[in-house]
Amino acid sequence: MEVLVFGSAIVDFICYVPRLPKAGETLHGTSFATGFGGKGANQCVAAAKLGAKTAIIAKVGGDAWGKTYLDHLQKENVNTDHVQICSDETTGIAQICVAEGGENNIVIVAGANELLSENDVNKALDLFTESKVLICQLESSIEATIVALREFKGISILNGAPALENTPSELLEYSKIFCVNETEAALMTGFPINSLGDSRAALLRMIEMGANTVIITLGKHGAVYMKKTNTQEIVHIPAQKIEKVIDTTGAGDSFIGALAFYLARFPDFPLHQQIGGACAVASFSVQFPGTQSSFPDAQKVHTDLTNVQYPWKIL
Ligand code: ATP
Ligand code: RIB
Repeated sequence: MEVLVFGSAIVDFICYVPRLPKAGETLHGTSFATGFGGKGANQCVAAAKLGAKTAIIAKVGGDAWGKTYLDHLQKENVNTDHVQICSDETTGIAQICVAEGGENNIVIVAGANELLSENDVNKALDLFTESKVLICQLESSIEATIVALREFKGISILNGAPALENTPSELLEYSKIFCVNETEAALMTGFPINSLGDSRAALLRMIEMGANTVIITLGKHGAVYMKKTNTQEIVHIPAQKIEKVIDTTGAGDSFIGALAFYLARFPDFPLHQQIGGACAVASFSVQFPGTQSSFPDAQKVHTDLTNVQYPWKIL
């Protein structure tokens, strides 16, 4: 496989609202949709849509959503040999509000995702040995995620979302690339990020906490990264300019899935090029509603990094 995902599959219940509700408030929404979500499955489908050979190790519930989700992943050309239906559990669900302007808030109930275990890593050791890139997130068992990252010898990406206030150091040490958005970075490190310059303190702190290479995504400002081997240097990659943002839900996931695709296909390219490609894919996705439904396929973006130069600069 080019991209292997160990992580979550969740069904999204999305309310579109004029603005995000305040605590205790009931709001009239404008429309409702269900969608296939969960950071793990989103990231896997993002890579698959670009043409990567993908597989996911995940768990869904014994309810109607579980079977529907399995069928959906197969239609997206994702290998599901290691997706298990757990008859005594519910499929993970997410309640999402998307405001005009695209910002969102999300509550998840992980359900069957909680049952992902060390045993599931052991049962898929062939995939762990042969795959080029592994992606994990923090919507399933943390212990199992640590084992998955420890066992994998290729390029591993950990998306530290949802963020933990006390992140076990193994999570950072065992992943080659640790990627969070600005809110997650602030929660983990205690350093708020209100400008590009602010990212330095958070990046450095995450390196001190054990990370090897850290990427922080910054919404419409793109992304920054720092490597443990050169903490003097912060590299900034801008996002594409988008006229009308419709829904940013899943933008971070399309970024991670695309990053994995480019790392698998162009492992020797400089990281700013692979991140530039991931930003282009994620910026495309914010123009359309939903999560996976907004991700571009290979016809809509550059999949060959040899044909394109993305802008970047050292801060
Ligand atoms: P999610 O809404 O899925 O939680 P996130 O907060 O994890 O997303 P962001 O940092 O908001 O992730 O965005 C990830 C990437 O998506 C950015 O690096 C950028 O490339 C792209 N992106 C997000 N918002 C915009 C925007 N308003 N305009 C252009 N690109 C955007
Ligand atoms: O990152 C977006 C995803 O977060 C949604 O699809 C939702 O399921 C939650 O996991």
